[in-house]
Amino acid sequence: MDHKVVVENLVKIFGKNPSRGVELLQQGVAKDEILSSAKLTIGVADVSFHVDAGEIFVVMGLSGSGKSTLLRCLNRLHEPTAGKIVIDGEDITAMTRPALREFRRTKIGMVFQNFALYPNRTILDNVAFGLEIRGVEKDARQKIAQETIELVGLDGWENQYPSELSGGMQQRVGLARALALDPDILLMDEPFSALDPLIRKEMQEELLRLQEKMNKTIIFITHDLDEALSLGDRIAIMKDGWVVQLGTAEEILNNPEDEYVVKFTEDVDRSKILIAESVMHKPLAVALLEKDGVNVILRKIDKHGLSSILVVDGTHRVVGGLHPEDLVRAKKEGLSIKDIPVHEVSQTLLSTPLRSLLEMSSDTAFPLAVVDEDQKLVGVIARSHMLAALARRGVI
Ligand SMILES: Nc1ncnc2c1ncn2[C@@H]1O[C@H](COP(=O)(O)OP(=O)(O)O)[C@@H](O)[C@H]1O
Ligand SMILES: [Mg+2]
Repeated sequence: MDHKVVVENLVKIFGKNPSRGVELLQQGVAKDEILSSAKLTIGVADVSFHVDAGEIFVVMGLSGSGKSTLLRCLNRLHEPTAGKIVIDGEDITAMTRPALREFRRTKIGMVFQNFALYPNRTILDNVAFGLEIRGVEKDARQKIAQETIELVGLDGWENQYPSELSGGMQQRVGLARALALDPDILLMDEPFSALDPLIRKEMQEELLRLQEKMNKTIIFITHDLDEALSLGDRIAIMKDGWVVQLGTAEEILNNPEDEYVVKFTEDVDRSKILIAESVMHKPLAVALLEKDGVNVILRKIDKHGLSSILVVDGTHRVVGGLHPEDLVRAKKEGLSIKDIPVHEVSQTLLSTPLRSLLEMSSDTAFPLAVVDEDQKLVGVIARSHMLAALARRGVI
C-alpha cells in the first residue's frame, strides 16, 4: 500500500537567504553554529519519514526542536525551504494556491494547544463554524455539529458558551471543530499540553477511543514521552531540527539511539509513568453510602458494565467495595444497603510505584482505590490497567 504521507528531505530554515543554510546543513554544520555564523535558524533540518493511513504518528522533542515547524510545513502554513511532501500521491510542495486551499479545506484538519473559540457563539455554532465557511446550509451543518459534539462527549452543552466550559471541555470543542469537517488527516500540535494531568489522560483515552471509530491519519505533537507512548503507533524524536530516532515505543525504550533519547526515557522510568497516578483510571461510578439504594447501585453497575463497585461516604472517602451478587440478593430479599457486607478495599496514594501496586493487588475482586492526601478517592486501578501500562512500556 502507498503511504498516506511521505516526507522527503524536508528542510525549513528561517532568515534571509535560507538556501545558504541548506548548504551548511549538508556540510554537517550544527544548528547553533549556523545561527551564529549565518544568522539563520534551522526549524527543520533534513527530515524524511512516512505515515500510513490510520496511523497515529507522534512527533516528540524538547521545546524548539522543530515539531511545530514540521507540522506547519505539512499543510504549507510554512513554505518548506527544500524537500518534498507527498500526501495521497500528490506533491503538496508543488501545489498551486487554489489547489492548496482546496486541499486544506477538505483533507486536513488542525488542532492546537491554544486555539480560540468564538466567545459569542454557542458551542454548536463554534463546532459548525468550518462548515458554515464551507457553505453547508444551516440545517445540515447543525446536524453534523450536533453529531460531532456527541462524539466528543459534550452532549447537552451545545447551547452553552465557551466561557461556561472547563479547559478540558474547551479542548474537546476544538477537537470537535476539526472533526466536523471530517478531514482524512488530523494535525495536532500539543492539543492537551495545557490540561491537568488527569484530564489530559482522559483526553488521550478519548482520542484513542475516537480513533477506533474514525480511523484518521493523525500526526500528533507532544513534548511528553508518557503521552507519546500511550498514543503513538510510531514515534519520531526530534532534536535541533533533526529526527534523531524513529520507531515504535518498544524500539525507543529498549534501544534509545543516543543520550538525548535516553534522557527522555529515564525521566519516564523514574518519575511519571510507573506510579499509581499514571496508571489509574477515573472511577466510572461509585456507590454513595448515605444516598444510594440497592436499585440505584445495581443500575450504576449495569450501566458501566462493572464487576464490582466502590462505596464512598459523603466526603468521598472510600468505605469499601460491594459485590454485585450481594446486591442482587439484597434486592430479591428486600434488604437495605446497610444489610449488605461491605468488603475491604486496598487503598494507595498517587505516588506509589507500580512495582508495589502489583504486589498489593492480589485480591482481584476489587480494583485498588487511589486516594489523595485527604484520603478522597481520585482513581481506580484494576490489574488489567497495570498490565496494559506495562505492555505499553514494553516491559511484558
Ligand atoms: N516564524 C519563525 N521565525 C523564525 N524562527 C522560528 C519561527 N518559528 C520557529 N522558529 C524557530 O525554529 C525552531 C523550531 O521551533 P518550533 O518548530 O516552534 O519548535 P517546537 O514546536 O519543537 O517547540 C526554533 O529554534 C524556533 O526559534
Ligand atoms: Mg511547538
